[in-house]
Amino acid sequence: MKTRFSLRHLLALAVATAMLSLSTGVVAAEVDMNKYNASCGACHMAGVAGAPKTGDAAAWAPRLEKGIDALVASVKKGLNVMPAGGLCATCSDEDYEALITYMSTPQ
Ligand code: HEC
Repeated sequence: MKTRFSLRHLLALAVATAMLSLSTGVVAAEVDMNKYNASCGACHMAGVAGAPKTGDAAAWAPRLEKGIDALVASVKKGLNVMPAGGLCATCSDEDYEALITYMSTPQ
């Protein structure tokens, strides 16, 4: 009886650990700096034409209020001076999310 209980306990622990490593894997969607430098960075690094600057949390705050999905949609269809896709032909939605998170986070 005692061994059966500890075995189940161990199993539950293993499942919990597996779930934890799975979820951290999702959170750690790394920003691709090559994509940043070749596209978004060209405008967002210096704030060209009113682009919210990378690392300027205050400039990004009102944008972030729209929600990440709306921001990804803005980039994909373009917004005023920003061309559709933000000059990144190979970016996935996940890339855009990671890039926006990177740019809106104080460096
Ligand atoms: C040619 C310059 C340029 C490039 C390249 C560019 N942006 Fe922008 N971006 C802008 C400008 C200018 C604005 C401000 C637009 C406005 O509000 O009129 C902007 C705004 C944004 C916004 C806010 C959108 C909103 O709805 O408020 C996001 C998010 C964004 N850019 C992400 C990106 C990402 C991600 C990339 C790279 C894949 C990128 N941008 C590349 C110029 C650029």
